[in-house]
Amino acid sequence: MCGIFGIVTQSKDLPVAKLIREGLQRLEYRGYDSAGIVMISDHKLHLKKDAGRINDINAKLHFDEMPGLIGMGHTRWATHGPPIAKNAHPHLDCTGKIAVIHNGILENFQQLRKELSARGHIFKSDTDTEAVSHLVEELIKKGLNLREAALEAIKCCEGAFGLVICAADHPDSIIVARRESPLVIGIDKARGAIYAASDIPAFLPLTRTALILNDNEMAELKPDQVDIYDLLTDKPVKRDSYEVEWSIDAAEKGGYPYFMLKELHEVPAKVKAQIHIPQSDIDAFAKAIIGASHFYITAAGTAYHACLAGKALFARFAKIFVKPILCSEFRDELRDCMKPNSVVIAVSQSGETLDTLEAVRYAREKYNAKVCSVVNVVGSSLTRYSDHVIITTAGPEIAVASQKAYNTQVSALCLIALRIAELQGQMPVDVSQKYREALNGVPAVLEKIRTEHEQKIKKLAEKYAKKPNFYFLARGASVAAAAEGALKFKEISYSHTEAYAAGESKHGPIALIVKDFPVIFVAPPDDTYERLIGNIMEMKARGATIIATVAEYDEKITELATDTIRIPHPKDEYYVNLSPLMYTYPLQIFAYYAAVHNGHDPDKPRNLAKSVTVK
Ligand code: M6R
Repeated sequence: MCGIFGIVTQSKDLPVAKLIREGLQRLEYRGYDSAGIVMISDHKLHLKKDAGRINDINAKLHFDEMPGLIGMGHTRWATHGPPIAKNAHPHLDCTGKIAVIHNGILENFQQLRKELSARGHIFKSDTDTEAVSHLVEELIKKGLNLREAALEAIKCCEGAFGLVICAADHPDSIIVARRESPLVIGIDKARGAIYAASDIPAFLPLTRTALILNDNEMAELKPDQVDIYDLLTDKPVKRDSYEVEWSIDAAEKGGYPYFMLKELHEVPAKVKAQIHIPQSDIDAFAKAIIGASHFYITAAGTAYHACLAGKALFARFAKIFVKPILCSEFRDELRDCMKPNSVVIAVSQSGETLDTLEAVRYAREKYNAKVCSVVNVVGSSLTRYSDHVIITTAGPEIAVASQKAYNTQVSALCLIALRIAELQGQMPVDVSQKYREALNGVPAVLEKIRTEHEQKIKKLAEKYAKKPNFYFLARGASVAAAAEGALKFKEISYSHTEAYAAGESKHGPIALIVKDFPVIFVAPPDDTYERLIGNIMEMKARGATIIATVAEYDEKITELATDTIRIPHPKDEYYVNLSPLMYTYPLQIFAYYAAVHNGHDPDKPRNLAKSVTVK
């Protein structure tokens, strides 16, 4: 949450403020309540900030005209203080010479504000962050240089932070520091510039050479130099850079009206790439799981729904029961009852979701559990807390509503489940061969949905877009698709949606059914199909409108439904058993078109941010 982007250079040709503004726009998925930029020029800070989205603020304040070769900007997801201009970052000290931007939460902010106010500091915002600028001000007055002052100020801070600090009287560098909030450094030798950002897309069109800053580290960034220090010992740290594999255009819309549509269109190719990751990655992961006695899978939001699909696929192929636990509930649910020799599979797009990180830390530290992660971002915190990692092949996902990441996560979990079955000899070779063939055919099915069915799904979405309530029902492995379909629709189209295991719907939810209440069934022709028909009949009997996601060759449920979304997979049991990889995609498309029809920006849904780095 919150996007941070800073640049340090000596190249007079670089339009630094413009580059910061553009980088912030690429980070807007992290928060879009307010934005601001500060630049150092002529030993002065130049600050512009306001509430609202960067484009609108830029039209009023003209960020690009700001002078200077060193500067930093912020796009905010409000935590402390409402989303109004005074709470927009950067925050200055009393002298107006020190500026701070921050992602995270300073837990002791009330105490710090009290103490600093008592010492005469005047606060201009309601934020926790502003305390840091006043702390640095005091320490610089005592004679410390910017880095020393930042270090001492950070020692007073409790909680999570990605911080960037600059000062008018120290115009050659900026200081960055992190604890539990992401920060990555970009090195652009061609332009003679160093970048600091909360996520790689900020600088992806400028450089693909990156340096990871670990938790409890700070760095001083100069135009041609990065010095990293351990925050706890103040000792210098050596760190090698690495080349980011993501393509440069991945952070651009490329002619699409929204990132979400661009990313939805990428799904077939991304799933294909996932299915073809090196066998050695899958083997190491699978073997780590086989060695354990107890299995948990944890994540939040969409990634949690991938866990639900993973649970079903592990049971179906590997004959292993994996318990899904919401990462925010992990510690409470497992209090004192996690068994020795447990493995926790953590799933995350960003690898920075704080609840997920806390869950795996708890499992590791308290129970010595092995952590195996399925993560999209190389070098993210989760990858560093994990014994084994599979990197998903989604590439940067900019739309706040996750979609291609989900499809690659489910594909990765499916590969692992199949591999465990093969390694444990639970699946005859000819059967596993058939599954491999079907798996290789899945991207073509997804591609057909995109090319041949998208317009039909769009029409359907427009027909139902204004409905205020929906149920998404399914059984067995398809409950994950129902849950994800419901979440996607809710978060970008703002209707009230709920997902249930269809059999559970008669135990309460059915009370809401009145004439024309839309109920979306996820109905692949698997062993739940006949039982699902019973649930469809119960809903129909009470006047519900039935929309069903079915196989293209389906007849029975098609007869009962008002509308269908048809999945063009072959009539083949192997494809049917891989349904979790195919039946969610059309529901993501359905949600996208409903949101657009309702006039909402699907890339930036109300109140949300992509990477949730607060508890
Ligand atoms: O980065 P992560 O996958 O760990 O994020 C988990 C959730 O916050 C995320 O999936 C969220 O639910 C999205 N808004 C879903 O579209």
